[in-house]
Order: sequence, then C-alpha cells, then structure tokens
Amino acid sequence: MIEPIQWHDGRLLFLDQTRLPHETALIETDDPSVVIGAIRELAIRGAPLIGIAGAYAAVLAAQRHLGRSWEFVRLQWDAIGSARPTAVNLMWAIDRMRKVVQLSGLVSRMDVTALEREATAIHQEDREACERIAAHGSALLPDQAAVLTHCNTGMLATGGIGTALGVIRKAWEAGRCTHVYVGETRPLLQGARLTAWELSSLQIPYTLITDSMAAVLMQRGIVRSVIVGADRIARNGDVANKVGSYGLAVLSQAHRLPFFVAAPVSTIDLSTAEGAQIPIEERSAREVVVCGGREVAPVESRVFNPAFDLVPARLVSAVITDRGIAQPPGVDTIAALTGTRKPA
Ligand code: MRU
Repeated sequence: MIEPIQWHDGRLLFLDQTRLPHETALIETDDPSVVIGAIRELAIRGAPLIGIAGAYAAVLAAQRHLGRSWEFVRLQWDAIGSARPTAVNLMWAIDRMRKVVQLSGLVSRMDVTALEREATAIHQEDREACERIAAHGSALLPDQAAVLTHCNTGMLATGGIGTALGVIRKAWEAGRCTHVYVGETRPLLQGARLTAWELSSLQIPYTLITDSMAAVLMQRGIVRSVIVGADRIARNGDVANKVGSYGLAVLSQAHRLPFFVAAPVSTIDLSTAEGAQIPIEERSAREVVVCGGREVAPVESRVFNPAFDLVPARLVSAVITDRGIAQPPGVDTIAALTGTRKPA
C-alpha cells in the first residue's frame, strides 16, 4: 500500500485520494498553496493526515520565504490552519510548528531545519499513536463478531495503520473480528472508495452497504459493534466525526450495541468544552447533486451538506486513544487521559 504522504528532500509527495480507487496518482510539490488546495478538495483527508500535511506545508511556506520576513509565512500558516474547520489537527499542528521557531527577524536555514524536524516528528508520532490505539482497542471489539465502520480511518487517513480501521485490523489479525461492514459514506464515498480499497488490499473480508442499510444489519444481529474515528473530541467527550456517525450512534443505542470512537489524543481539543462549540464544515451542493461525475438530482435542488456531525458523549461507549481508553467518555475520563485536571 502506498503511503499517502511522503517527505523527500524538502518536497512533499501526496496521494490524490479523490482519484481512488481508479487511479493511484502521487503529486509532488514544494508549494504550500498546492497542499492547502489538496486539503480543501479532500485529495489529502482524514483528521490525523491533514494535521501531518499541514505541518509539512508549514515547512514549505518557511522554505519559500527563506531570508525574508516571517510576515508572509504567518499568513500562509493561518491559511493552512483554517483550510478545514472541523478537525482540530490542522490548528494543533500549526501551533506545534509555531513553538519551534522565534518568528522574529528573517527566516533562516536553521528555522527551516527546526520546522522540518518537527513535521517529521508529528508524522512519526502519529504512526506510533496508531499502533497504540490498535493495541488498546482490539480487545474491546466483541469476540467472533462482525463490526460496522463508517468513512475512512485507515492508512489513507493517518500516518500509520489508522485509528478505527487500525483497531479493526488488529482485531482481525487476532482472530476476534470476523467480518467488516463498511458504510459507503455519501456524499464523497470515503467508505466505498477508500475503506473498501484498503480492506481489499489487506485481504480482510468486508461487505459494502449504503448508509441507509446500517439499521437492518443491527436489527438482524449481523453486526455486534460500531467503531468510527473522530475529527475533534471536546473536553466532555462529545465527538465530531463524519456525517452519519450520529445516526449510527443512535441506532447502536437502540440496538444495545457498543459504539466506539478511536482517535489519537491530539484529536482532543481541551479548549472546546462541549460538542456544540465545534464548527461543523458545510460543503458545496455539488457534492450531493453530482455522484460519480453525473448529476443525480436537478441541479437547482437546495442541498444541505454538513461534512460532519456531533455524537454526544452519552452515546459513546468508549473513546480509544494512544494513551488509553476513556470509558465512558466524560470530563473526568478525558482529563485523566490528557493529564489535565477537571475544570472548576
Ligand atoms: O472529510 P474527511 O474524509 O476528511 O473525513 C474524515 C473523517 O471524518 C474521519 O472519520 C476522521 O477524520 C478520522 S480519520 C482517522
């Protein structure tokens, strides 16, 4: 499997995920605005991966302005940090990058080297976080049972084996998980185009469903748990994730099935007290009206297209992170994982 992001000699290579599963096209660039565009168009996507790409884009911005004022770099860093609003990882990565340089005087070669080191560290840390999430989570999935997942949370969305999909992969390798049901994830089909593609190449048995079929699977007792990733987790354990996650959580509760969320601790935003404060990205009407390059509805249709939704903590059985499990998620268990105290 191709790594979705690679860094070679001051240039970024990324897999254009909009072209999958038909084409595996690698784009090479040293232009931070190309990376910003790729993040906006979802050529690079998935919360941890956009954080990693954002960090490398921050290096590219400094490299471009070597010997010049930080002012231009700062503007580009702001554009990187706000390329997509819901996942906290972009802002988190830019904050980390800001801390390794002085941001005064002119951009020096030493600054670029320090930034490059930090971006590479962010990438490597995410790779390791994925392994730990998978180790913590695989034993939580019901044994000898099928699981349902949504969107794409695998190698294409992270620096490593993935979050929710990494857990599934480890549970499959351990002989616990027997089968994976994959929701197609309309409108952009991350489940069908990306997760099915990953599971195929890993030779893990899966069945693709349209999003509206999840309830039937639960009603018939075919799946015994649901696991998804997260774009941002608030201090109280509320989760923002790909639209459709909330519906699956409600369905899981109605069928008394565990609903798990897997994410690195870097996805927890301690500055956000609860889910209602998380900005939910709304995307273009065309994403809903056009499917597979064809219009599937009158073009004049009004469209509602939130890219994410909110799962209240009370519907989440456990948040599985690289530092352990918040079970059930809430102010106390999240504070324990992040090493912060419960706010007064
Ligand atoms: O719009 P996308 O494809 O970037 O949305 C991705 C998701 O919602 C994932 O579930 C989430 O980012 C976790 S990825 C490990």
